[in-house]
Amino acid sequence: MKILVTGGAGYIGSHTCIELIKAGHEPVVVDSYVNSFPEATRRVEKITGKKVKAYEADIRDRKALDRIFSENKFDFVIHFAGLKAVGESCAKPLEYYDNNIGGTLCLLQAMRDHGVKRIVFSSSATVYGTPERLPLDEDCRVGGTTNPYGTSKLYQEGILRDLYVADSGFTVVILRYFNPVGAHESGLIGEDPQGIPNNLTPYIGRVITGKLKEINVFGDDYDTPDGTGVRDYIHVVDLAKGHVAAVEKINAPGVYTYNLGTGNGYSVLDVIHSFEKACGRKLPYRIAPRRPGDIDSNYADASKAEKELGWKATLGLDEMCKSVCVWMEKNPDGLGK
Ligand code: NAD
Ligand code: UFG
Repeated sequence: MKILVTGGAGYIGSHTCIELIKAGHEPVVVDSYVNSFPEATRRVEKITGKKVKAYEADIRDRKALDRIFSENKFDFVIHFAGLKAVGESCAKPLEYYDNNIGGTLCLLQAMRDHGVKRIVFSSSATVYGTPERLPLDEDCRVGGTTNPYGTSKLYQEGILRDLYVADSGFTVVILRYFNPVGAHESGLIGEDPQGIPNNLTPYIGRVITGKLKEINVFGDDYDTPDGTGVRDYIHVVDLAKGHVAAVEKINAPGVYTYNLGTGNGYSVLDVIHSFEKACGRKLPYRIAPRRPGDIDSNYADASKAEKELGWKATLGLDEMCKSVCVWMEKNPDGLGK
């Protein structure tokens, strides 16, 4: 299948392009490079040995989208493009709603007008807010998001559902990711956040490379086995394969929602210890105050994806941490410098 991958130069998008190519599909990237570099796609080409067509464009630019849809006949769109920094979204809500919701609206209008009616959308476990129950299944209550980034995901899910109500020819696959971590085994692509990372594993990566002094563990008084926050970390390569399963398995119009996680919860200290094993030395950390908005625990019931898509995460925490170490060692300055 020929597949438009919005945000295809980003962290999850670039790994997904590799898995699509490996499965015999043809990804076409559109990215504004607001949070990535064209080098990511060049590395995808190096890993796969295949040329990847890439357009530099903002998905809010309707003229650019018209050109892309006129030049290609797509079977599916996988829509990753969006801004994702939780803290920044609180400081810049208008920019976040404009980019994430404005981008999705423009993309959907272009899809409708060009007769491309199948989309996979990157949503997030953040839409569940404070979990109604654990593990989180797709029927759990959504809402109660605590930042504009999370709220934008909730709104985008709603827009996609409304679109299907109005036009039952659409196929909408909503994938709710838990915590993506890790890097491709080649060490050529991985997560490359700009500035000081907000998320745990890229932060630890910077401590490993000596760019940051110590890890701040945000709270050790949560209601969890060791008092630190528990999350469902999923290897980005497993996540990427979940997208391939979605485009291959879903072939009738409708709205489909799946959690993509492993079903296992790991604490912040578990993650630090796994990184220590991977890099072969102790890592400095200190217990810091809780981070506002964080919850105790969050992990998936991913059985619906296994049953309906035939997809299951196979890589464990140690493999995730090892792959981050390899990526950070090979690319201490990321891709853009
Ligand atoms: P990323 O920032 O690495 O990738 C997003 C890509 O989209 C970047 O390459 C960026 O340049 C591009 N982009 C942003 N706005 C654009 C626009 N208007 N037009 C064109 N390109 C644009 O992020 P990621 O981690 O790969 O995340 C991909 C998607 O998955 C995002 O929608 C994100 O919200 C979602 N998600 C990510 C996580 C996570 O923890 N990484 C968790 C849940 C959901
Ligand atoms: N943490 C630390 N120190 C840090 C960073 C994080 O102790 O420097 C802790 C957090 O308190 C939390 C855990 O590590 O307990 C994971 O935090 P992350 O920031 O890595 O991830 P979150 O679970 O907060 O959120 C991430 C993404 C969201 C996405 C969500 C999906 O940032 O965009 O996963 O579940 F929606």
